[in-house]
Amino acid sequence: MMARRPLIAGNWKMNGLKADGVALAEAVARKVKAGPAPADVLICPPATLVDRVAQTVAGSGVAVGGQDCHAVQSGAHTGDVAAAMLKDLGASHVILGHSERRTNHGETNATVRAKAEAAHAAGLVVVVCLGETEAERDAGRTISVVESQFKESLPSGTNADNTVIAYEPVWAIGTGRTPTNAEVAEVHAALRASAAKVLGAAVADRLRILYGGSMKPSNARELLAIKDVDGGLIGGASLKVDDFWAIVEASR
Ligand code: PGA
Repeated sequence: MMARRPLIAGNWKMNGLKADGVALAEAVARKVKAGPAPADVLICPPATLVDRVAQTVAGSGVAVGGQDCHAVQSGAHTGDVAAAMLKDLGASHVILGHSERRTNHGETNATVRAKAEAAHAAGLVVVVCLGETEAERDAGRTISVVESQFKESLPSGTNADNTVIAYEPVWAIGTGRTPTNAEVAEVHAALRASAAKVLGAAVADRLRILYGGSMKPSNARELLAIKDVDGGLIGGASLKVDDFWAIVEASR
């Protein structure tokens, strides 16, 4: 098996005005430059800050991503942001299908797939989020839910260079609760197997599958040590450089 370099990604969600965003980005860039970091580091500010954050971290080795994009590249879509626009500002990645988008904006697997196709066409790496709700877990449906999300959310042309998967149990996001290590291992193994089936063994072997949902300095080392966990998608703990960096260090 090939060693996969971990990816630690910060999802700032709808947080940060110019001054906070630039200060946080500067602090992360400083840490990476002092490196060598044990992981690839990605920060995903709100769309309003992608430009400034990308300029702030330019040349530091920190990658910048959007949190969503539209499925077409331009046109009459008031309020939306196209993948090419993110790319134009210096983003290299975009988060797609986050559960907050699936819940608050009615995004389906088909929506996510169309957005991923547009993002790939614009040259962005997609971080596709999936995960079960608490009701689905309680009903014993976790594996079948994530398998169908995986199958239905990824466009043709998906490979390990243009796509990262983030397993985020909906009930673990922002709640302080996490699945047991065995539960995380089970889902990540199932996703790796899905990847082999859908994308082929060689792609599956290189595909990074992140865990997200209440990852913080106190549990990161344990979560990141689980087989088939190739990094983390961090919400709340990505807003403080010390917490975020402790998680980066925990991937060592
Ligand atoms: P959290 O969010 O770390 O605050 O739980 C993770 C996410 O939603 O990506």
